[in-house]
Amino acid sequence: MVRHFLELSDAGSDGLVAILNDAVARKAARAGRPEGWVDADAPLKDRVLAMIFEKNSTRTRVSFDMAMRQLGGSALIMDAGTTQIGRGESIADTARVLSRMVDAIMIRTDDHAKIEELAHYAGVPVINGLTDRSHPCQIMADLQTLIEHGKALPGLEVAWLGDGNNVLNSIVEAAGLLGFHVRIGVPDGYDSDPAYIAAARQRGARITVTRLAQEAVRGADVVVTDTWVSMGQAGGEAKIAAMEPYQVNSALMAGAKSDALFLHCLPAHRGEEVTDGVIDGPHSVVWDEAENRIHAQKSVLRWAFGQL
Ligand code: CP
Ligand code: NVA
Repeated sequence: MVRHFLELSDAGSDGLVAILNDAVARKAARAGRPEGWVDADAPLKDRVLAMIFEKNSTRTRVSFDMAMRQLGGSALIMDAGTTQIGRGESIADTARVLSRMVDAIMIRTDDHAKIEELAHYAGVPVINGLTDRSHPCQIMADLQTLIEHGKALPGLEVAWLGDGNNVLNSIVEAAGLLGFHVRIGVPDGYDSDPAYIAAARQRGARITVTRLAQEAVRGADVVVTDTWVSMGQAGGEAKIAAMEPYQVNSALMAGAKSDALFLHCLPAHRGEEVTDGVIDGPHSVVWDEAENRIHAQKSVLRWAFGQL
């Protein structure tokens, strides 16, 4: 069975815990080394990852490339617009061809159905580098960051502010799989996917939705936000106006626990969803979070290759 990482649930609770433990340990084992130094065991030696981008990226692109280098393998980038995908070659045929040429595929795309189709026809692991529906690799880096900053995940109270988007869907999915709770503060009309909320509740997570930003953050251990307008979304003045009460500023942050952590997947729109005072302030761990994209994805890759 080929292991795909399209959603966090593909790895299951045990798989996610194994990935996080591995990520923390591998990061510590190479501390102080140059970024391009290959881990002593080179577990993905000679393996090649193809990365398909149908949307822009800085972190996902660099972190997967560095992850493969550090594991002893390599990565190649396919900008969809300059490949035959951009001229209409089918996802199925692309999957068949790439599976004969590379050892794994990472894709960032819009419609989640595309990644499911790619995985269906691929004979090698397919990894979700963000779709309109979810961003599971981001959440693995987020969880590693929380663990490294001393937060035990079970029972944690995580507050989300702003748009009900792909990143939130994956946080909610993680809550169900790892036993933490999410208070969602989003304006009416911008709710996240109810299917993720229902699945997380069924697994025992407490997921609450409120229209009051202060209520969402009250006593929270972690405060998370993201851009109000995701890639490919329409945006517009009405949406920005609806989002404004959910801006994470120092006054809002003061409602969370005194040792609360602030997360943002980046890129940030300073002055919109978050102020300089918060993202550059004492609660923020966003640079650790960005770095952990490398470490968490190395372990996601190892899981996909059956090593965890
Ligand atoms: N957080 C994240 O996925 O960043 P990029 O869009 O830069 O890859
Ligand atoms: N929600 C954002 C995340 C970017 C990393 C987007 O989809 O654009």
